[in-house]
Amino acid sequence: MEMEYFYRLYEQLERCAPSSDEETLKALKSLPQLPKQPRVLDIGCGNGAQTLALAGQLGGEIVAIDNYQPFIDRLAAEAKSRLLKADIFPQCVSMFELPFAAQSFDLIWSEGAIYIIGFSEGLRQWKPLLKPGGYIVLTDMVWLQEDPPQEIADYWGENNPNMTDTKERLAQAEAAGYQLIDHFTLSPEAWTEGYYRPLRERIALMRQELAGNETAEKVFSMTEEEADMYDRFGEWYGYEFILLQKKA
Ligand SMILES: C[S@@+](CC[C@H](N)C(=O)[O-])C[C@H]1O[C@@H](n2cnc3c(N)ncnc32)[C@H](O)[C@@H]1O
Repeated sequence: MEMEYFYRLYEQLERCAPSSDEETLKALKSLPQLPKQPRVLDIGCGNGAQTLALAGQLGGEIVAIDNYQPFIDRLAAEAKSRLLKADIFPQCVSMFELPFAAQSFDLIWSEGAIYIIGFSEGLRQWKPLLKPGGYIVLTDMVWLQEDPPQEIADYWGENNPNMTDTKERLAQAEAAGYQLIDHFTLSPEAWTEGYYRPLRERIALMRQELAGNETAEKVFSMTEEEADMYDRFGEWYGYEFILLQKKA
């Protein structure tokens, strides 16, 4: 029941995680070489903000997958209505059972979604899909400083128990057979302007529509708690863009 309201909350939003087109494109431009017509896989694409940003720059094709059909439908409609350089092929499939041939992608992109399968496990399972020398670019939530205050350590310990710091993520990437190309931390505005401000506005609207609905209210309060945590403790954690190349 709660999931229904989480999905309804996010369906109308551009993003389901902190980011910005500028930072997506900064990551794209940091990749040394891509073919002119690359084949790209965007895993956990949500409503596809990053897919659309990439398709505005790249030629070739982007297969965008998510396991929630309304996100896929929204992205398909949006892709049709825009003039883009790359063709987008949205598909409703799970990241746990990707139906693609080995070595079929030049680039795998995944913003805010690898935590679902697990960082090392995702890197391990997705690697065979990359062509030799192919790239994987992802964002993952990390601690930015050691010894965070107990309240926020407990909060993320419960809600994202496998969260660690960038150093450990880079070591895990190396161990999974990737070479580091670059990494950078998403700006605070990617959280506040790109994510929590539209999310809070959407909650305010839905509260009016769903007044008295206890399940919906629980979802709204949980979401607001997360946004309030960022206001109070945002300097302790962030999203890291990590750019990797499959080793030969
Ligand atoms: C935090 S959101 C990020 C979405 C998008 N990349 C963005 O940044 O706005 C995580 C996404 O993963 C999707 N997801 C959850 N479980 C999945 C699975 N098993 N396979 C594919 N996608 C999944 C969710 O539907 C959601 O769209």
